[in-house]
Amino acid sequence: MTNPPLLPARLAVIVPVYREAANVLPLVERLRETLKDIPWEAVFVDDDSPDGTTEAVRAIAATDPRIRGIRRVGRRGLASASIEGMLSVSAPYVAVMDGDLQHDETILPTMLAAVEGGADIAIGSRHVEGGAAAGGFSAARAGLSDAGTRLAQALLPTPVADPMSGFFLLRRDLVERIAPGLTGRGFKILLDILLTAPRGLTVAEVPYSFRQREHGDSKLDAKVLLEFGGLLLDKFTGGIVPLRFVAFAAVGLIGVVVHMATLILLVGLTGAAFGASQWIATFVAMSANFVLNNRITYRDAKLRGPRLWRGLALFYVVCGLGAAANVGIASLLLRDGIVAWGLAGAAGALITVVWNYAVSSTLVWRTR
Ligand code: GDD
Ligand code: MN
Repeated sequence: MTNPPLLPARLAVIVPVYREAANVLPLVERLRETLKDIPWEAVFVDDDSPDGTTEAVRAIAATDPRIRGIRRVGRRGLASASIEGMLSVSAPYVAVMDGDLQHDETILPTMLAAVEGGADIAIGSRHVEGGAAAGGFSAARAGLSDAGTRLAQALLPTPVADPMSGFFLLRRDLVERIAPGLTGRGFKILLDILLTAPRGLTVAEVPYSFRQREHGDSKLDAKVLLEFGGLLLDKFTGGIVPLRFVAFAAVGLIGVVVHMATLILLVGLTGAAFGASQWIATFVAMSANFVLNNRITYRDAKLRGPRLWRGLALFYVVCGLGAAANVGIASLLLRDGIVAWGLAGAAGALITVVWNYAVSSTLVWRTR
């Protein structure tokens, strides 16, 4: 293959990828074909996929300088990968599209023309005349997607037929401007952008048919749905109540259930001594919380290997201090007759959750 003379790219296509090794080359071939008349580049942002996705990108880049790869380690997430990709380029226009061939790349020139012609953002849309979502989703996924679309539409300042699309194109300077306000959570980077951008964006929707995935599998799972809720929560509480905190508190509630179940099992069924059982139940609950937080609350900063054990030890210490503070504060409030015992207990528990959360975020998972 001979490359065209290398001009500075006018359009940068950002492709977030996770386990898409088999799709990389077919996508590049399609981009070469579709973008013949436009100086372009593509940046694949891979979260350290185990299937050789980055290697596939590097192999193409070895002979085609328009192709680049970013390999991120220790992090996961479609939205944050897209943001980093968009901020890594200097082309005046950037597009984001999936790396699994489900998005129809042949509409990219039309999308570019729309933004060059004055639109703030062009969206590849399944829900305008001429578009279709049918092929790409199972019935269950389609239902879910519909529900999410309605919810998003109710919240958006600008009407958009397909706010759940992951396929869009905009001017880079707009991205640069709003990047600090993006949450970067979960799957819905477009929604994040629409909710963060100043009001009154001009949106152009370009129809396309969502294709069936041929290789590999979808990465959407329950945790991704949770993050969708988190994105909305973040945006509508102005980030005052971060989703991470809500997840942390929910995991804490599960911990209480685990604690009681363990206690009932030990004292109730085996007749073990209460004191020892309470200790064991505490450790079981803390360990369960640690595992759940590592998989859900802090999934984007998941600890593995030796760091996992170090994190667990630290988590025990943090929660232990939190528990001591809980008892201390509650007794103080009660002793000084400030509040009744129920309220004192609740206040102690609340302060403990906030403490555990703050310290876990800064020291154990280090997301801050
Ligand atoms: N870097 C990175 N990190 N990429 C990811 C991650 C991740 O954690 N998770 C998924 N991806 C990549 C996939 O490899 C794929 O290229 C793209 O993001 C979309 O992921 P899929 O798993 O194929 O998602 P989907 O088909 O269920 O939904 C997608 O298409 C919809 C229709 O446009 C998403 O992009 C939705 O946002 C979109 O609405
Ligand atoms: Mn897909």
